[in-house]
Amino acid sequence: MKRTVVTAALPYANGELHLGHVKSTYLPADIFTRFMKFKGLPTVYVCASDEHGTPILFRSEKQGVKPEEYILKWRQSYFDDLSFVLIDFDKFYHTHSSEHIKITQEVYEKLKEKGYIKKLSVKQYWCPKENKPLPDRYVIGTCPFCEASEQYGDQCEKCGKVFTGGQLVNAICKTCGAKAEIRESEHVFFTLSNFSDKLEKFVENVDAPKDIKNFVLGWINDGLKDWDIERDISWGVPIPDSKGVFYVWFDAPIAYTSTLKKWCDEKGEKFEDWWDNIVHFIGKDIAYHHFLFWPAILMGVDWKLPSMIPVRGHLTLEQKKFSKSRQWYISIKQWKELGFSPEYLRFFMTYTTPQGMKDSDFSAREFQKVINEELVNNFGNLLQRTLKFSERLGSKIEDVETDEIFKKVQESVNKYEKFMDETKLSEALKIAVGLIHELNVYFQRNEPWKNLKIAPKVIRTVASSLVILNKLLYPILPLKSKKVAKLLNVDLVWEGKDALKVGHTLNKAEILFPKVDDDMMKKLEGLYKK
Ligand code: MSP
Ligand code: ZN
Repeated sequence: MKRTVVTAALPYANGELHLGHVKSTYLPADIFTRFMKFKGLPTVYVCASDEHGTPILFRSEKQGVKPEEYILKWRQSYFDDLSFVLIDFDKFYHTHSSEHIKITQEVYEKLKEKGYIKKLSVKQYWCPKENKPLPDRYVIGTCPFCEASEQYGDQCEKCGKVFTGGQLVNAICKTCGAKAEIRESEHVFFTLSNFSDKLEKFVENVDAPKDIKNFVLGWINDGLKDWDIERDISWGVPIPDSKGVFYVWFDAPIAYTSTLKKWCDEKGEKFEDWWDNIVHFIGKDIAYHHFLFWPAILMGVDWKLPSMIPVRGHLTLEQKKFSKSRQWYISIKQWKELGFSPEYLRFFMTYTTPQGMKDSDFSAREFQKVINEELVNNFGNLLQRTLKFSERLGSKIEDVETDEIFKKVQESVNKYEKFMDETKLSEALKIAVGLIHELNVYFQRNEPWKNLKIAPKVIRTVASSLVILNKLLYPILPLKSKKVAKLLNVDLVWEGKDALKVGHTLNKAEILFPKVDDDMMKKLEGLYKK
């Protein structure tokens, strides 16, 4: 059986995780993994904290602590935050581990052996006042491609292009504001340009949203430059035969393999057996790295390429970009402190997030609306009225045929499965939600409370449908669906689409989906509207 490795982009150990991270990356990967495991397919979900790079060094220096100390705090907090939203990793590791450092250096050596590494003199920004090099985040200036101001030295946040040294216009030192000078430095390069044709084929074939593929193909068309993978700092993975450390984007994706390897070692599994069907969940801002840099590294060392790269856009808050400095964001911690259900968040995010580059929005009002309409009034209510009504009739499934609509529910499973296989999670969820609506209409139209003769048929139809639809909701609502299964008195397993057996007993109704009231909504709004 094909083994699947699901990865989520590694969070930088450099600040709080917010709802944006959850919706584009950690949640969809978790839902997909849960679905695969639910079906009984061998799947592991790995991730790690991304602990190198100049931003982390910069921040730790500013706080006057060692980078080793600085990253530790974030590493633990990420695991806690993500566990709260029920993100269930098989392994969450970190890039500042001896295993990761070793594998990164081995990858480098192999690339070198095969002739994909060369040394070149580069233009390096330099602060004349502090007399030190200014890599990446230590320098800011204007993007040479789209003229966006206040961009860092390695990538434009506006147009997404990546730079090589010296390309920023009007660069200044971020710490002291001095005009940056340019000096020569010797760096190791990865010959990305060698892979242009192969990458083009890869991008065409990989399973990924069309819009992002076109974007990436455009980059290849513009011509790929060899990639400077060295930085003149001491924090990072040391380069075996050079003075500096690897650029964080060289070592970070290798953590997909080092973390999987760690998991394999712990479980007594073989890495070679598992590095097979690879699925990378990412946000749109890191497409360049996952569609070009990383596959080229994999090609260079002859490892299997990813088969799927699901990409999602960013999350905006009330239609505006997230901003930590302006407090315009919601962190996972804040959500937790309000005492709000992580599953409501999971439902909302999945419901409103399409695949591809399009952004989606969070607003307290929309959250209240979606949860109350689709989860509380639609699903919760149908469950509630079915169980209550069945209780009146003795809680047993009677010997009657199910109605036509049940067949429709049975058939919907295939459509749902197809969407899930393609990681079109929102579409998959909407299949379940749509059928629940239809079932509510069906219940209402039959008025079983007026016509007790047809009541047993309505109950068998709706309760049997709920058993199936609850399975479809499991990956999104892993805990609630277990409770629903309990009320329906069934095991929560993927297999089985039959109607509930004659004589099956349903349990008493319980409220599983409390309303999001105005008070809650106001509290939520209070997090960012000050
Ligand atoms: N460390 C890199 C990834 C390395 S993968 C080998 C990184 N870290 S991050 O913490 O900035 O982002 C983690 C994930 O969250 C990425 O998939 C990124 O695209 C996503 N998002 C970051 N900000 C986001 C929003 N505002 N909205 C949605 N997703 C966001 O990138
Ligand atoms: Zn730009």
